Amino acid sequence: MLWKTLALALLVQRGSSQGIAPMMRFQCSQLVVDRIDPLVNPGSVPSPHLHQIVGGNSFNASMDPTTHDLPSASTCTSCTFSDDFSNYWTAVLYFRARNGTYKRVSQLPEEQLKGNGGITVYYIPSTNNKTAVTAFKPGFRMLVGDAGLKSNGPERKVCHRCKPATGDNSNINCGSPDAQTLPKGFCAGGIRSVITFPTCWDGKNLDSPNHKSHVTYATGSKANDVGPTGSCPASHPVAIPQVMYEVVWDTRPFNDKNLWPEDGSQPFVWSTGDQNGYSQHGDYVFGWQGDSLQRAMNARCTGDVCNVLKTQTTEEAMKCTVPKVVNEDVDGWLTALPGKPVIF
Ligand SMILES: *[C@@H]1O[C@H](CO)[C@@H](O)[C@H](O)[C@H]1NC(C)=O
Ligand SMILES: *[C@@H]1O[C@H](CO)[C@@H](O)[C@H](O)[C@H]1NC(C)=O
Ligand SMILES: *[C@@H]1O[C@H](CO)[C@@H](O)[C@H](O)[C@H]1NC(C)=O
Repeated sequence: MLWKTLALALLVQRGSSQGIAPMMRFQCSQLVVDRIDPLVNPGSVPSPHLHQIVGGNSFNASMDPTTHDLPSASTCTSCTFSDDFSNYWTAVLYFRARNGTYKRVSQLPEEQLKGNGGITVYYIPSTNNKTAVTAFKPGFRMLVGDAGLKSNGPERKVCHRCKPATGDNSNINCGSPDAQTLPKGFCAGGIRSVITFPTCWDGKNLDSPNHKSHVTYATGSKANDVGPTGSCPASHPVAIPQVMYEVVWDTRPFNDKNLWPEDGSQPFVWSTGDQNGYSQHGDYVFGWQGDSLQRAMNARCTGDVCNVLKTQTTEEAMKCTVPKVVNEDVDGWLTALPGKPVIF
């Protein structure tokens, strides 16, 4: 069948970016941009660097895993599926002007999706029907990446794509031409950061001291794999849905050589203080209502349409916001990044 060959070819070529494989792919609009981090710095107001956060409106600085029940504490979510009160967050990209001031780079929804920026979230069951995935349990959290990472580290699942103006269909996420470093030149369609979470869980711990060791990537999986591939090691035997974030940073207003440094270096810097790109990271706190995520995985829902889930409109999702708790300017031409992280 020609259509089947074509669909498979597109799947291989485009990977996750077009939602062709049986994977959920939906937009979560911006809940807030704030300097708190209930996973890595619970209770700290402020935390060391700025984040952009999406999801349920029970998000706050503490989120004690033993008492904070996201679905019952939330009254809305900025995500497409109304039962998803999870929180998802990443570092924030800034542009540094020649005069040394910083301007926050705004975000765009991914192609074919709508919203006020935020994060495109994926839940990928498996690219075949062989592996049944077990949805996360209440209280589950995890982290990918390292806010202090200065060089090529083990965090191969965090990468950047220099997007073309339209039709971004080259290759699979985090494969060539994506790189761990920030792009060196102008990107006609902005810069996309991709964060891909592990697919194997130890089956016992909802979190771990480094927020990482209770989960792991499958044996033999590669940086650009999409979905649970390979097999889970005995230490982490339970296959979980692969969570993946895509964040598109609208760097287009800065594509002007008169604005870029005279020495030819690139002008973007993460809110961690990092000018290279290794420090982008993604935090995840599970908060789906009841068994809704498991039902969606079993039904192999694709894209942002799912018969077994309740869906809200983009307008409704965009209305779900929370006030910033740290009282500081994050949007002007700032003389220092919020929290004044060391620049590296
Ligand atoms: C966070 O939310 C929980 C549940 O609503 C609440 O008990 C807690 O006091 C809040 N913490 C902060 C720092 O706002
Ligand atoms: C610094 O440069 C930016 C971008 O050119 C400009 O908008 C801003 O006003 C400048 N700030 C100062 C203090 O000169
Ligand atoms: C996988 O399972 C779904 C639901 O049972 C079915 O519709 C689909 O055809 C299966 N796909 C493959 C490749 O076997």
